[in-house]
Amino acid sequence: MTIPDLKTLHSLGAAQQPQWPDPAALDAAVGKLRSVPPLVFAGECDELKEKLAAVARGEAFLLQGGDCAETFDGVTADNVRNKLRVLLQMAVVLTYAASVPVVKLGRLAGQYAKPRSSDTETRDGVTLPAYRGDAVNGFEFTEESRVPDPQRLVEVYHSSASTLNLVRAFTTGGYADLRQVHTWNTDFVRSSPVGRRYEQVAREIDRALTFMNAIGADPDEFHRVDFHSSHEALVLEYEHALTRIDSRTQQPYDVSSHFVWIGERTRQLDGAHVELLSKIKNPIGVKLGPTTSPDDAIALANKLNPDNEPGRLTFITRMGAGKIRDILPNLVEKVTAAGVQVAWVCDPMHGNTFEASSGYKTRRFDDVIHEVQGFFDVHRALGTWPGGVHIELTGDDVTECVGGGEALAEMDLGNRYESVCDPRLNRVQSLELAFLVAEMLRNAQTADASTAPAAGITVTRGTA
Ligand code: PEP
Ligand code: CO
Repeated sequence: MTIPDLKTLHSLGAAQQPQWPDPAALDAAVGKLRSVPPLVFAGECDELKEKLAAVARGEAFLLQGGDCAETFDGVTADNVRNKLRVLLQMAVVLTYAASVPVVKLGRLAGQYAKPRSSDTETRDGVTLPAYRGDAVNGFEFTEESRVPDPQRLVEVYHSSASTLNLVRAFTTGGYADLRQVHTWNTDFVRSSPVGRRYEQVAREIDRALTFMNAIGADPDEFHRVDFHSSHEALVLEYEHALTRIDSRTQQPYDVSSHFVWIGERTRQLDGAHVELLSKIKNPIGVKLGPTTSPDDAIALANKLNPDNEPGRLTFITRMGAGKIRDILPNLVEKVTAAGVQVAWVCDPMHGNTFEASSGYKTRRFDDVIHEVQGFFDVHRALGTWPGGVHIELTGDDVTECVGGGEALAEMDLGNRYESVCDPRLNRVQSLELAFLVAEMLRNAQTADASTAPAAGITVTRGTA
């Protein structure tokens, strides 16, 4: 399989690309990126694909999460550890409460480029190019900072490398050992109602481990976790330069990440992103918003996964809490009837963003939960598998989404609003979501599709 060159890709039309002012600097950055070692190995991508095949078959559940936009300044030990910790806590809750294998996929170590709804941003009468993520330009609102700088793509590589290095150390070097299940529950979370509920789960796991130990069972899986990386494949130069031929199979892989996805704004069937990702062998995703027709989805599947290989393709739906029950059933039904092998994953974030009166971009915790509930109900009614969730979250105590057990109000948003793009669930909200989703997942497993009602489980919000 040959990869089209960058010029050919651009000639197809590529949405959401930066206007790099200096072509020589861009060539130099791309040249550098073509020479650097891979961030991930093709064999690891294949392993993840196997796990996602289990998701597509209804035998596992995907937990994908991390920042909307990573930043270079955010590459610190504390920040990476905190994100990993909340994902591990969520995974434990889901695995334990629902007894389903959970595939853990970070939205990290590469999530630096953002599509924008407007090319410009205006503040106090001053209009500048929009911030497109640290991969492209600076967040600071000055003319100089907003100029796209290709050297940033090289910095994406180095930032991703140090993030991934730390994640690999944490997940295999003892931090993710199940015996640590209590120590993940630290600081402000421990004292919250959901933190106490987590402590109960942790105690039960501890007892189970002690029992296993007493009978002499101590498998490797107790001491490390499988964790993979993902990001939106947006800037063509970066993804193209990191696409390499695997020496084992002679096939091309995008070695910038284990999993890459195509965003809602760049999923044009004949566009450059779909073309490039159709050529690589990684497991990939496509975001599907409320305007997606079943024919669009089937055409994307035919182009991106012509062999209909399970695990290769994940559809990440982001319809909005108010629309999912109207739109998703027809989509899932027609795609399923066409025999398409796909993992269905719910992004309950991107269809539920609004601007608070204070001007902050936010989301309601309730809307997030309602969209996930709608997702589970639709799949239950159709007898298909609700394969996972895709969440924007952080391991810190930020105030970006309203609601949740702590009843964060719109007027609290300014206290600690740190996202440079979309609002993220904080650690308490993320753990609350995990408990609620675990309940839905438990019900999904006992569901009998032929008799189940379309709407079902009542969820009490903010439970502790
Ligand atoms: C995102 O995941 O941050 C994003 C921009 O999503 P979407 O492409 O679904 O709008
Ligand atoms: Co986002």
